[in-house]
Amino acid sequence: MNQPANPSPARRETIIEVRDLVKRYGDNVVHDHLNLDVYRGEVLSIVGGSGTGKTVLLRQIVGLERPTSGTIKVFGESPAKLKPAQLQALRNRWGLQFQRGALFSALSVIDNIALPMRELRALPDNLICQASLLKLQLVGLSAKDADKMPADLSGGMIKRVALARALALEPELVFLDEPTAGLDPMASDDYVALIRELRRELGLTVVMITHDLDTLVALSDRVAVLADRKVLAAAPIPELVKVDHPFIREYFLGDRAQRALQALPAPSRPEAPRPPSGDT
Ligand SMILES: Nc1ncnc2c1ncn2[C@@H]1O[C@H](COP(=O)(O)OP(=O)(O)O)[C@@H](O)[C@H]1O
Ligand SMILES: [Mg+2]
Repeated sequence: MNQPANPSPARRETIIEVRDLVKRYGDNVVHDHLNLDVYRGEVLSIVGGSGTGKTVLLRQIVGLERPTSGTIKVFGESPAKLKPAQLQALRNRWGLQFQRGALFSALSVIDNIALPMRELRALPDNLICQASLLKLQLVGLSAKDADKMPADLSGGMIKRVALARALALEPELVFLDEPTAGLDPMASDDYVALIRELRRELGLTVVMITHDLDTLVALSDRVAVLADRKVLAAAPIPELVKVDHPFIREYFLGDRAQRALQALPAPSRPEAPRPPSGDT
């Protein structure tokens, strides 16, 4: 099962702090005084209906979008307030695997992985190539895949290469936006196993958007639910399912969810909803 991340709340180190975040596009209020903390070493998953602002939240955390108001701190710094060079230095501390624009189609696998290191302009190219090959192996691919082009890869391999690139600069934190979307169940399970292993070996903090229940249950220490323009609750799944809210009921207590939740250890598994009888 999951690593026991942050067993004692007193010893938790907050590495992402979102306070009173408001984000508007014209009249469209996406976030309205949203708060969220992410602790070092945890896997925090973000769920919410389509269009609730999950991607926009990540884009603000990593400094690709500016909040309308409120503050976001990552490792104690506010991406929106940094000068470009400072923001770049901060960005080097995390890896991103976003849903779209996964790989550059004109670059080979190895060149895709090498790209963040080349952009640093700090390392000789033979070292970059060696490091890229190591990253390729880290995500379960081999040197014979290095010269393939993205068009020749399966969906699962593309996700792995994108992950290898996200890990290129040895980040302490990674952001994954729908990492298993579009994968068949087996590739998805393999990917989940890979994340779990990397997290254990590298001590990564993972912030992941997913709507896939199996991925969610298998990896998350806590789940943050985005609804009503806020983070409604951020808690381990067994606590979360006790929150009385239509989205949570629908999402966690339906038949599919109940099947996925069987993967939790029995003592922490939430109870199935009771039939609407008069019994207590
Ligand atoms: N660049 C943008 N300009 C205007 N509206 C945007 C922009 N990006 C996202 N939105 C809007 O913000 C809302 C949240 O989008 P998003 O974060 O992508 O949702 P999701 O939770 O599905 O990831 C949607 O209503 C979307 O239309
Ligand atoms: Mg999205």
